[in-house]
Amino acid sequence: MCGIVGYIGQKEAIKVLLDGIKRLEYRGYDSAGIAFIEDGLLRCEKAVGKIAELEKKLYGNHFCTHAGIIHTRWATHGAPTMENAHPHLDCNNEIAVVHNGIIENYDYLKSKLELEGHVFRSETDTEALAHLIEKYFQGNLEMAVMEALKEVEGTYGIAVISPKEPGKIVAARKGSPLMLGIGNQEYFITSDVSASLEHTRDVVYLDDNEIAVLTHGHYETKTAQNVPTYKKVEEVLWNIDMIEKDGYEHFMLKEIHEQPQALRNVMRGRVDGSIGSVRLGGLKTCEKELSQAKRIVIVACGTSWHAGLVGEYMLEEMARIPVEVEYASEFRYRNPVIEEGTLVIAISQSGETADTLAAMREARQKGAKLLSVCNVVGSAIAREADCGIYLHIGPEIGVASTKAFTAQVAVVYLLTLHMMNLKHTNVPTNPAIIKALMSIPEKIQTILDKEKDIIELARIYKDSENALYLGRGYNYPVALEGALKLKEISYIHAEGYPAAEMKHGPIAIINKDMPVVFIATKDSVYRKVLSNIEEVKARGGRVIAIVTEGDEHIAEKVNHVFFIPKTSDALTPILSVIPLQLLAYHMAVMRGCDVDKPRNLAKSVTVE
Ligand code: G6P
Repeated sequence: MCGIVGYIGQKEAIKVLLDGIKRLEYRGYDSAGIAFIEDGLLRCEKAVGKIAELEKKLYGNHFCTHAGIIHTRWATHGAPTMENAHPHLDCNNEIAVVHNGIIENYDYLKSKLELEGHVFRSETDTEALAHLIEKYFQGNLEMAVMEALKEVEGTYGIAVISPKEPGKIVAARKGSPLMLGIGNQEYFITSDVSASLEHTRDVVYLDDNEIAVLTHGHYETKTAQNVPTYKKVEEVLWNIDMIEKDGYEHFMLKEIHEQPQALRNVMRGRVDGSIGSVRLGGLKTCEKELSQAKRIVIVACGTSWHAGLVGEYMLEEMARIPVEVEYASEFRYRNPVIEEGTLVIAISQSGETADTLAAMREARQKGAKLLSVCNVVGSAIAREADCGIYLHIGPEIGVASTKAFTAQVAVVYLLTLHMMNLKHTNVPTNPAIIKALMSIPEKIQTILDKEKDIIELARIYKDSENALYLGRGYNYPVALEGALKLKEISYIHAEGYPAAEMKHGPIAIINKDMPVVFIATKDSVYRKVLSNIEEVKARGGRVIAIVTEGDEHIAEKVNHVFFIPKTSDALTPILSVIPLQLLAYHMAVMRGCDVDKPRNLAKSVTVE
């Protein structure tokens, strides 16, 4: 969703800001804008559409400025227009604000400010902030920001500049991520660490209700009550190569191919195949609660929710703990029952998803212990949890999640083994179970090596208007994920269903033009899935089956078959999803879609 970059230092600010905000393009946006101070005046440029449009407007001008703010907007209040793009200005063009989040009481603030004579130019909630800061400005920008924020309800990550204090950027955070990049005599304020990674790996994560003041050669952080805070400078472990395409046409394809390595990273230092043990350092503070857990609730959104569903099957089957998987957006508003002994697990690649964070807060209020499974280190969800497990797979830039899904499933598998150990103390995990996981990266590679076969399939089905994905047991969440991948990036209507449920509805739309993708690996429900395949064939449907190596029997029955290596039932999703990721990717590319930045979608959904 929206992105913020602010810069103050010795370099030419416009270039630094444009380069930085381009690193955030992957998050999804529909307009962009920049503000900086030149010759004592506030300059502001905006454009609808891509950052390249904004760049065109700036091109050919020789600016001399060393501080500024830039923003990409994903429309919430008001259409993506020039007027609604950030930065937003006050009445006199002396305050410029960029903002991520939502000002919930903006209607009230706007009417009040209009009565006081302020003139609004946009339909956004953010503009109220610019006018509020104007109202309170008495020569000190951070004091004005603090006063203004006292009246604001909602969430925000903001950066503010003013020609009245030209060498200063003021930033504030509540519920929307914001961090400082600490360079050599230069500072960045960003909503995502990727934006400043080219210049520095040292960051300071702002906490909620914290303010930062950046000037030339100095930065300070303080509470909303103006009390100084002393923050640790942390080193980001990602490097700039990790956020480059590295020769691939798209980030999504790169990330699909990174999966063998990503899975090795998930396991590094955590598993010992010889004795069958699992070490998860981030869970130390929760060991007691984990060993006493009577029930688990998993909250997540999108692809992470699908990984949670796989987790439900694993934790119930192997650790024998009852599990429910909830859409975070539903959980947060339905007054859930949390009894003693309930462990809530939040799964989120970005660690920023607003609904997941809110669901955790709801659970905390009701007394649950919180465990997070996140990729982004230091993210809001990771910090909100009592304990957690990081994926350690490097940044995921493609909007459609791929390597995060397989890594999340692997992490939940490790967690399951850990819970098994805790429940039956002194009973070591069966080494074979761990060895099965350790062989997964190689098996993924053998699937990736057959990408050509998937490209052929994509060519056949790229013009489809609908597709159905069916699976049972561990492969049911994979059916959901396969369908989600296809619809997200190719805009083909696709549905995922538990195979047997097909008879209760989707069977009505099966015809000869409808590809039906079955995930029919040799597991405990294999025979049942075979019957479902027959039902589709009987109605003229065209069947693509993802099956276990050597299963020639099924190959004779279906139109197309793709073999994947044998593994345990619980680990099958990590393999069976790979051909579906590739299929979605190649169909979308053949249809001319922008796979890394699909329309209307955002990588991190930081609003409700
Ligand atoms: C967005 C993304 C999805 C992602 C979902 C949850 O919808 O486009 O790819 O699965 O958010 O994100 P999270 O960061 O919480 O895993």
